Formats: sequence, C-alpha cells, structure tokens
Amino acid sequence: MFYFCSTIQGFEVMNLEIEIKGRSRVVVGDVAEWLPRLLPQKRIVVVSDVNIDRHYHSLLERFDHVLIGQGETNKTLITIDTIYKRFIELGVDRSCFVLGVGGGIVTDVAGFAAATYMRGVEFGFVSTTLLGQVDASVGGKNGVNVEGYKNMVGTFCQPKFVICDVNMLRTLSPRDFRTGLSEVVKSAVIADSELFEMLEQCDFSTLQRDTEKLAQIVFRAIKVKADIVERDERETGDRRKLNLGHTLAHAIEKSSSKMNHGEAVAVGLALIADAAVGRGLLSAEDCNRIRCVLEGIGFQLEPPVAMRQLLTAVKQDKKNEGDSIHIVWPRAIGYCDVEKMPLADFKALF
Ligand code: GLY
Repeated sequence: MFYFCSTIQGFEVMNLEIEIKGRSRVVVGDVAEWLPRLLPQKRIVVVSDVNIDRHYHSLLERFDHVLIGQGETNKTLITIDTIYKRFIELGVDRSCFVLGVGGGIVTDVAGFAAATYMRGVEFGFVSTTLLGQVDASVGGKNGVNVEGYKNMVGTFCQPKFVICDVNMLRTLSPRDFRTGLSEVVKSAVIADSELFEMLEQCDFSTLQRDTEKLAQIVFRAIKVKADIVERDERETGDRRKLNLGHTLAHAIEKSSSKMNHGEAVAVGLALIADAAVGRGLLSAEDCNRIRCVLEGIGFQLEPPVAMRQLLTAVKQDKKNEGDSIHIVWPRAIGYCDVEKMPLADFKALF
C-alpha cells in the first residue's frame, strides 16, 4: 500500500490518496477534478439511485444509467437481477466500465452486479455518504442481504478507484451524516488514537461544512481500513477487527427498524466497550471516552430492544462459525484484538 498526501502546515486536503493491494486507488478530493482523471477510456455505465441522479445530473448525464431504489430494502438479489437485465438491454459487456455513484447500498449493489455480470466487468465508485466513504465503498467487499441477513451473498473484488469528495457530504441530512461518524469512531478505536483525540476535540455541529477537517478525518479513517485490508483482504485474520461493535449492531438492525446501520454500530461499540471493561480488558476510563465521543456526536446508546432479544439475533450472524463467534475486543483507544469464543460465553457476558 502506498499513500501520498501533500502536507503543508499539517494537512493539505486536496490530494489525499491511498492505493490498496496495488489495484484500488482511494482518493479524498474533488470529484470534478478526479473523475475525468480516473475513468478509463471505455464505455461507462452508471449505477446509482434516483436521489443521487437528481443531485449530480450534470456530472453524470453523458453516461448510460441504471437507477435503483433508495434504502436497505433494495439491497437484494431482486435488485441485482434488475440491474443484469438493464445491462443486457444496454448491451453492456466486459469492455465497459461500471461506475457506482452513491452511498454504501449503491456501491455494495453496483460492485456485486459488476463483479458477477459476464463473470466480471471493471468498476469504480464515487462515494457520496460518510458511511460509504469511510467504510462501505473501500476495501473490495460487495454484496446483498438475504432474508434479512446482512451481506449474506457477495464477492471480494476491488474497485479500480473510489473517489471520496467531502463536499458531497453537505447535502446529507444531519442523521445520515451522523450515521457515518460511528464508523469513524470505530476506526479510531481500532487503530488510530490520534484520530480519536481529533474526534474528542471536534465541534460536531460544524463538522459537516468544515471541508478541511472533514477531509483529514475521512482520510485517516480510510487509512485505518486500507492498512488492514492490505494485510488481510479476504478476512481470515486482521480484517475481522473492522467488525468491532458489529456483532451486536447487526443484531440490533435485525431486531428493530428503529436504528439505521451507523446508529446500531454506535450502540454496538458502547456495549462491547462495557463488556470489555467487565472482563478486565479495557480501562473504565477508555470506555468512558468512547461513550463520551459517541454521545457528543448525538448517538443514543441504549439498545432499542431488550438484550435477550438481541442475543437471540446474534445466534444468526453470518460471521459465526458453528457454536463459536469471533469477537473484537477494544483493549485501549487505538488497539484491539480478536478472540474466537463460544457463543454461549459471549452471551453470558451480558
Ligand atoms: N465493513 C467491514 C469490512 O469491509 O471488512
């Protein structure tokens, strides 16, 4: 992995770039500048959603389009089938390039459709949400949900590029913006204590419009993920760390429609930090810092359903192996490790 950032008095925001596995360029920068530089000389087909198409029509109008519906309920094999049929109608073949433009749902779906259509068409992303920029669009995982189980079907296939323009985040609703910040906190707790300190000092009421600060934060969160994916692309070891807080978050999403992914991750992070303190793995002080940052962002940290109901849903997580589960434990701010433990022992902690 290489990363290039021009540093002038701390951080220069315009050209922050990381390369993952020598195959995937991730750029935090201006989409109007980067898109023409990164798009190959091929026929481009855009996969996006109706909302994105409205916002960025002038940027994308010259390309053929496939539009999907908005929201997690569209992250299904039915949507994939619709995209394949539209690709056939448009005469898309392996010489084309699929450009996914949108949040995590669009990029997960577009990446999966592109990676499987005709056994694989090259693709890249313009990531338009904070959640997408710091997590979903980066690292080569794509896929859809099946029967409410998250990301049950998909591939590991790196996008040629991911463009993360923080100016695009200005149009997000405050809730959607906040949602992405839980994944930033997660990255900081996993491996970047300086990023965590930046978050502790951050004024979240102005962050969405503070382009420079936001670019630094997004870049650092991406770098945590990129470093891990570089070491373990296919999640046989270290990449599991990116699931910090996600075992309980997925259970929350499965048991209740009240919280979206990022909100559920915030609760999952708080609960796993509490459990880590209970096991003597994390200091009460660090747990308190994690809770304070999450509350400062505006997250509600009480689970929306009873713990007993959550733990039943944990039983059905795809990351379980038989009766065991990989749990990521925060050990300090910026350091965590993974333990394979019997599911029953995990449940007993709550
Ligand atoms: N979102 C976790 C991962 O990409 O591995």
